[in-house]
Amino acid sequence: MCGIVGYVGPQGSDVTDILLESLSKLEYRGYDSAGIAVLTANGTLELHRRAGKIANLAAHITTRLEAQKGGLGIGHTRWATHGRPSDDNAHPHPDCTGVLTVVHNGIVENYAELRQELELLGHTFRSETDTEVLSHLIEQTYFGPAKRDLTEAVRQALQRVIGSYAIAVVCREQPDILVGARCNGPLIVGLGENEQFLASDIPAILKHTRKILILEDGEVVTLRSNGVSLQKLDGRVVERDHITIEWDAEAAEKGGYPHFVLKEINEQPDALRRAMLGRIRDGQLHLPELEKLRKEGLFDRVQRIIIVACGTSYHAGLLAKYVIEQWARIPVEAITASEFRYCNPIVGPETLCIAVTQSGETADTLVGIRQAREQGAPVIAVTNIVASAITRLSDAVLYLQAGPEIGVVATKTFVTSVVVLYLLGLYLGEQRKRIRSEQMSAFLAALEHLPDQVQHILDQAAGPDDVIAPLARRMASVSNMMFIGRGVGYPTALEGALKLKEISYIHAEGFPAGELKHGSIALLDPDTPLLGIATSSHIYEKVITNIQEVRARDARAIVVATEGDERVKQFADDVLYVPATLEAFSPLLAIIPLQLFSYHVAVARGCNVDQPRNLAKSVTVE
Ligand code: F6R
Repeated sequence: MCGIVGYVGPQGSDVTDILLESLSKLEYRGYDSAGIAVLTANGTLELHRRAGKIANLAAHITTRLEAQKGGLGIGHTRWATHGRPSDDNAHPHPDCTGVLTVVHNGIVENYAELRQELELLGHTFRSETDTEVLSHLIEQTYFGPAKRDLTEAVRQALQRVIGSYAIAVVCREQPDILVGARCNGPLIVGLGENEQFLASDIPAILKHTRKILILEDGEVVTLRSNGVSLQKLDGRVVERDHITIEWDAEAAEKGGYPHFVLKEINEQPDALRRAMLGRIRDGQLHLPELEKLRKEGLFDRVQRIIIVACGTSYHAGLLAKYVIEQWARIPVEAITASEFRYCNPIVGPETLCIAVTQSGETADTLVGIRQAREQGAPVIAVTNIVASAITRLSDAVLYLQAGPEIGVVATKTFVTSVVVLYLLGLYLGEQRKRIRSEQMSAFLAALEHLPDQVQHILDQAAGPDDVIAPLARRMASVSNMMFIGRGVGYPTALEGALKLKEISYIHAEGFPAGELKHGSIALLDPDTPLLGIATSSHIYEKVITNIQEVRARDARAIVVATEGDERVKQFADDVLYVPATLEAFSPLLAIIPLQLFSYHVAVARGCNVDQPRNLAKSVTVE
């Protein structure tokens, strides 16, 4: 998830300032490096790229007295997916001849094969990014079949690209046009007076215009200072009216949502799609990141797996334990990092350690993993942050590709951690020949369906028949709550309870449903509601029995159940329905109403939902 911007206007405009200002509004989309390209009045394409935040880039441009005026430019703030954050990997990426340059948000899935093809044609690559392939591909087309027509070159080149993209391209031979295109990546056009803007998101251009044209997938846009034209990738012309944005600047940064947490909860369908992007293709599972370990025979010889993580990431690890044991038949232990490091763990070359840490910087996880490595254990990291500390301690890294999470509580990094760990579980099952190909197809199809199912829950919650927010408002004054589940419902209960306590400060605990009567049931009374996870599963009846035990003590029961389960209503005071999926994947749906519930309770209690008290996004102390 990166941010891109573009500008075309009259010569002599302060393009550098406009681009830097717009980029600063997109920093939430990525902040590991930034760059701009400006076409100056004397026809040169000035390129500035720097690792680090946008302020770093701005300082570099000012100190070198290169703030250039012009009429055309593009900019980028990066969230690395291929290639570590560095000056060379920062965008824009020029082609060989320096005639054009490109900024890109997304992932080019077939970049390796395109790069090989272009290298054979004589193109020299200077970065490790997938984006650079776009610059060379557009250049190849520009000087070839597109006959030096930039829009045509972009349109033809993109027909070869598999993956997701939102791009902006400028060419020094065409000083009056800016070309953009999108496929599964956001891109909007801002319509000004004698100037036009391109951006990943509305906040970037709200200072200049409120008239917005929203691009759709498979569209190419050509911007000139006096107007905009749209076409499909196949060349058909598209007509579309603009919309007028009424939000103020702050609301726009949150995408119109009142809080980042709510925005990020709503981003989960896209985050899940990105986490699976390139990894499920044509009904097959691909994890090229693990190829080296596979060739070394690790997956044949591994005897045991230990998942090391904290907090929400630990809950993702607990879910992974269930599925990896089931799919690969390898014993798995999920352990809290702060305990792992002091328990003198028995690990060695036959123990695969999986570190789960969205920030990649959690001190306890890093120390625990360092110890495991010293004892010879191979390590796979699951993280959201490219080049974070954990990646330097690992033999392979699986990135979440969730995009930046601004809210302190983990929402989209939780569901993406679970999905990435599940993909790893399926991969191990495949390597150990425990999963038949028809089973694999069914699992992958169910996974691919999840983003739409999450969207369905979110749409219902945003609609007039929402039951979650009214329920949350009714529960906002309770002091304690209990969450229960069995099987994969148990880590879901733990995560639901953690969300509620950290964001609303209500005391909440998660339990295995069968464990309740061994002591904790004593806490239940009419003022302590119970939240039970009773989605379809092989132990559904057992969970229902546990919920009945609770109701017999006059406690209020809120139940998360599968759509179509009418019977559950007789055991519940309130039911939160989620769509049907395979049992293993049910936590990815059941957690959504729990996140929304916690959010609405916290808002009703007047809590600071984006930055709860005493918490930090990366816990870098022990
Ligand atoms: C809860 C939350 C924390 C983190 C934990 C580990 O919403 O965000 O519990 O999950 O601090 O952080 P990472 O995953 O960065 O290691």
